[in-house]
Amino acid sequence: MRDTAEKLLNWYEKNRRILPWREDPSPYHVWISEIMLQQTRVEAVKPYYERFLAELPDVASLAAVSEDRLMKLWEGLGYYSRARNLKRAAIRIMEDCGGKLPKEPAELMKLPGIGPYTAGAVASIAFGACYPAVDGNALRIWTRLTENAGDIGDDRVKRAVTQEIAAVLPDTPFAAGRINQAFMDLGSMVCLPNSAPRCDLCPLADVCGAHDAGRETDYPVKAAKKPRRIEKRTILLIEDEGRILLKKRPARGLLAGLYELPGVEGHLSRAQVLAHCRGEGIEPLRITALPPAKHIFTHIEWHMIGYRIRVDALSDFFPGKQGGILADKQEISTRYSIPSAFSNYILYSM
Ligand code: ADE
Repeated sequence: MRDTAEKLLNWYEKNRRILPWREDPSPYHVWISEIMLQQTRVEAVKPYYERFLAELPDVASLAAVSEDRLMKLWEGLGYYSRARNLKRAAIRIMEDCGGKLPKEPAELMKLPGIGPYTAGAVASIAFGACYPAVDGNALRIWTRLTENAGDIGDDRVKRAVTQEIAAVLPDTPFAAGRINQAFMDLGSMVCLPNSAPRCDLCPLADVCGAHDAGRETDYPVKAAKKPRRIEKRTILLIEDEGRILLKKRPARGLLAGLYELPGVEGHLSRAQVLAHCRGEGIEPLRITALPPAKHIFTHIEWHMIGYRIRVDALSDFFPGKQGGILADKQEISTRYSIPSAFSNYILYSM
């Protein structure tokens, strides 16, 4: 299996992707990029990464950024608790670590939002230490190589694979970081998920058990997930002369602390919407139905319908009432972070 490490290093040297966070892999840069890349594709992350670093170039600036500004910089990336954990971790690094990320995975893992994968990635890529960073790519490649039919959602299987990978990492400085990134690149370009592996391009084809058996697509094994809970919602785009009504979501739970279009549970008829508005002290001039939309979160799906509601003199009722905020186009695009769950409706205000 040592041979495997050598093959990965050679392949990485020739085929690695040119990515912004690889230009200057400082601990801060690697940390930010790895957090953004969790659950988000490389192409989607690139512009966010550049913009984030232009505004928050170091741990100190991240520790000091306001929550609303941080959420605006993260708007559209999803999984917003990642951003909140970044800021909490930055404050901790300023207070307890002299403003520098710690080197040791065990210390890194004490910071909010950093688990074994991210700790291994920072330690190996930025500090050059010999630790594995096992993500979905590495799991897929390794279970194919070794024909491991364990469920990769099971922590014991993950830990076993991590140990096997750790055992083949050379301790030459930065070699583990290159191998960890080789898994990421090979996984996204060659050893593709489902029925699409490109074994003709793979440097490990001749040592791959699954390939030898013609059973690449039998791995990795992953237990079926629980189906998501479906929630019906009615989204209200309440407008008065170019301004719309936003609400700040509660500080805990789904999309915590972000701004949203007001919504009501269930799918309301026009008559129910009218009654709802009157109950809130708003008198609609006109109510227009908007097309349905879906948004998928990790454990929940929102099945939405929407109404555009023209009102007169909204400002007599708002701002302030029940946490409502009146925002114009400029403020919507530059100030308030509105998650992409609402993008199919917010576009009617633009
Ligand atoms: N996915 C997660 N981390 C990555 C990295 N550092 N490079 C490329 N893809 C990644």
